[in-house]
Amino acid sequence: MIEKLKIKKFSNNVNTPKSIITGGAGFIGSNLVDHLINIGHKVVVLDNFVSGKKSNLAQHKKKDLKIVKIDISKGKNLAKYFKGADYIFHLAALAQIIPSIKNPKKYYKNNVIGTLNVVEGAKKVKIKKLIYAASASCYGTPKSFPTSEKDKIDLRHPYAVTKFIGEEIVMRYASMFNMPNISLRFFNVYGPRLDILSQYSAVMGNFISQKKNKKPLTVVGDGKQTRDFIHVDDLVSALVKVIQSKSVNKIYNLGSGKRTSINTIAKLFGGKKKFIPFRPGEPKNSQANILKIKKEINWKPKISIEEGIKKLLKR
Ligand SMILES: NC(=O)c1ccc[n+]([C@@H]2O[C@H](COP(=O)([O-])OP(=O)(O)OC[C@H]3O[C@@H](n4cnc5c(N)ncnc54)[C@H](O)[C@@H]3O)[C@@H](O)[C@H]2O)c1
Repeated sequence: MIEKLKIKKFSNNVNTPKSIITGGAGFIGSNLVDHLINIGHKVVVLDNFVSGKKSNLAQHKKKDLKIVKIDISKGKNLAKYFKGADYIFHLAALAQIIPSIKNPKKYYKNNVIGTLNVVEGAKKVKIKKLIYAASASCYGTPKSFPTSEKDKIDLRHPYAVTKFIGEEIVMRYASMFNMPNISLRFFNVYGPRLDILSQYSAVMGNFISQKKNKKPLTVVGDGKQTRDFIHVDDLVSALVKVIQSKSVNKIYNLGSGKRTSINTIAKLFGGKKKFIPFRPGEPKNSQANILKIKKEINWKPKISIEEGIKKLLKR
């Protein structure tokens, strides 16, 4: 199923929408692939499988999904993969904080040069919309809650820097070359296929694996810190609404709009807790102001944290 640096043409109906997803074998990307195929898109995934998995996409038929194994930070001419596409979702990135501190150059090359290659390629073809997966890490340790798109940018680690430079590139290309680009600042996304095996997994991933292995849930600090958790199904529904909307050249927060403490998450998982030292540099609280996306895109999240965790634990 994997094709190296080569795309076969879909047997094409001109009216079938075609979407490209960079990073489509990853957690969020593969959930997006499922949904787009479900609503009738033909999908091409560009992924180098550095963290993505072939098994995340194994359920799809060749007629609906093409997979190209490629490193977008090395692929010089991505335009050839984008030809005939209506939408590009650029999700490919190295996405962990601690490794980015250990290896900033690798993160810079992968996330910044990768994004530059994607917009350069997209510039050469006519697409309806390009969506960039930006990150709420650009707000660092915010001062006001819920945090809006107009709040201060406060970059605390190389991962946040590379994702923010990526957003700047995408938005500059939108204004310089009149490209239909949108940047969405994802908050804490959770749901099926979340990475639970990495030593750098975030809280939800850790809790799932600890619960599975009947270990105590490790709570950082006093557990009173909060995060804005958005279920991947809600996030994917926002991505689809964004491509259907007329909005271009805009930045939106994408979260649940609610903040939930880690102690509350632990309680919903159930079981024993083990407190571990606070990690300096991490924000105390995080909560997205989602008024802009609600109003302009006519989207709202539907899955409560209680329901989302129940779904996760049922798997
Ligand atoms: N998960 C979250 O809570 C969250 C929050 C904010 C932003 N984001 C952003 O959303 C996107 C997806 O995140 P995710 O959680 O699904 O991570 P993930 O690691 O599961 O997915 C990233 C995918 O990109 C691929 N990839 C990485 N570098 C590549 C390259 N150079 N060429 C081709 N493919 C490459 C990986 O193999 C993987 O399939 C990322 O851009 C991330 O920065 C995620």
